[in-house]
Amino acid sequence: MLTASVTVDPAFVVGPVRPRTFGSFVEHLGRCVYTGIHDPGHPTADADGFRGDVIELARELGVTTVRYPGGNFVSGYRWEDGVGPVEQRPRRLDLAWHSTEPNWVGVDEFVRWCRKAGVEPMMAVNLGTRGVQDALDLLEYCNGTADTHFANLRRANGSDEPHGIRMWCLGNEMDGPWQIGHKTAEEYGRLAAETARAMRMVDPGLELVACGSSSSEMPTFGDWERVVLAESYEHVDYVSAHVYYYEEDGDLASFLASAVNMDHFIESVVATADAVRAAGKHDKRIAISFDEWNVWYQKRAESKVPEGDDWPVAPVLLEDRYNVADAVVVGNLLISLLRHTDRVHAASLAQLVNVIAPIMTEPGGRSWRQTTFHPFALTARHAKGEVLRLALSAPEYDTAKYGRVPALDAVVTHDAASGDVVVFAVNRSTGDDLELRTALRGLGQLRLVEAVSLSNPDHTWSATADDAASVLPRPNETATVSGEQLTAVLPPVSWSMLRLARA
Ligand code: AHR
Repeated sequence: MLTASVTVDPAFVVGPVRPRTFGSFVEHLGRCVYTGIHDPGHPTADADGFRGDVIELARELGVTTVRYPGGNFVSGYRWEDGVGPVEQRPRRLDLAWHSTEPNWVGVDEFVRWCRKAGVEPMMAVNLGTRGVQDALDLLEYCNGTADTHFANLRRANGSDEPHGIRMWCLGNEMDGPWQIGHKTAEEYGRLAAETARAMRMVDPGLELVACGSSSSEMPTFGDWERVVLAESYEHVDYVSAHVYYYEEDGDLASFLASAVNMDHFIESVVATADAVRAAGKHDKRIAISFDEWNVWYQKRAESKVPEGDDWPVAPVLLEDRYNVADAVVVGNLLISLLRHTDRVHAASLAQLVNVIAPIMTEPGGRSWRQTTFHPFALTARHAKGEVLRLALSAPEYDTAKYGRVPALDAVVTHDAASGDVVVFAVNRSTGDDLELRTALRGLGQLRLVEAVSLSNPDHTWSATADDAASVLPRPNETATVSGEQLTAVLPPVSWSMLRLARA
């Protein structure tokens, strides 16, 4: 049995729990939109063709914002193709995913879906094949209130009220050579700055995200952020971060430590943004929008895009089946995002449905929760108030990828109004139970409300449409509170949530 300790005190706060940390992403990719959120023939479909079962699952997941329409897709997208009468919309080649885009869903439908799902839309503009004018046109179409062409077009298309979209991504992964319209940091930084400046002339209150690196493994990582922010600092609020290179490739010990890498990634972007702030003598600080993150098995057959003359509509693409270890890592990546809540102000689990997603569907049929659904849903539901700083002491183990890392990772939230305290913790050990002792200083008399752990003797278990419930977060009977100390035994390869309330 390993032992580890965590100490918290409500006087020491990282920052508020931000609802936008629990965002997700819907891209026109594979079956995310078509047969994912939209499936007119489905028994639960509404008048817009949206699946009611998926909307319910998105609500249960606790998703707060949803980024749209890409991703790589947006860099070749003409948003006008997706508005107006559906039968008149053109079919287009989607070069990003070698597919055919039928444009049955566009911006108006997406915003309607967001309203039904109770989420905030977050829009990306095409800065791959397009530029400033197109971004302005889309902004006017979505948010325009005056008697002008694109605002009137939206009204004519059935949306009298403006969509009121606050958060806008200035392109997607423009550092990536795979991106349509890929740019150098200088080229993109100028374009992002001019697009942002013009969009702010329309509405100074918009929240704008400049593209950071598509991964911290990119050869341009660091320098990209420096150059892009040097050009655009005054005009944007966020720089994005994306990460997917977490996968279990035969080295479980390293995989379970993926959040160590995410911590490093976030801290490197913060350092770079703050260096630009110092050099430019700026007052404000740039926040991070971690608007694509997940485990993704990129080398598996399901991630292979169609080729040649095959341009299918909504092909099966990136449909990873997640196991228990994947869910533990996803839970741990959320711990990392919360730990950095002072600088990570938004994040999007990529993606929402079918495509590297917590929710899966059969076309016209069943839907189910993947293992990764559970730590996300429980964290989104119960992390409230403020994230507390914590002192953590844990045994370490060796990893091939990240050196020596702690066997425990944890984050603690405290809602001063209700008195609720929640500990989210991961035991990264592949073979040992870990006794976690949490010293809850100055938080008053607390009682245990709920203790659950997600683990399984076989960490490779995955949910299917036939069996999505054999392995779920289960009550952890070892959890006890005595005075200011909470103690619980966390099984190997596990994610846990321990909830306390005023006694
Ligand atoms: O989420 C899948 C893809 O990953 C997105 O389209 C792109 O932005 C990233 O490379």
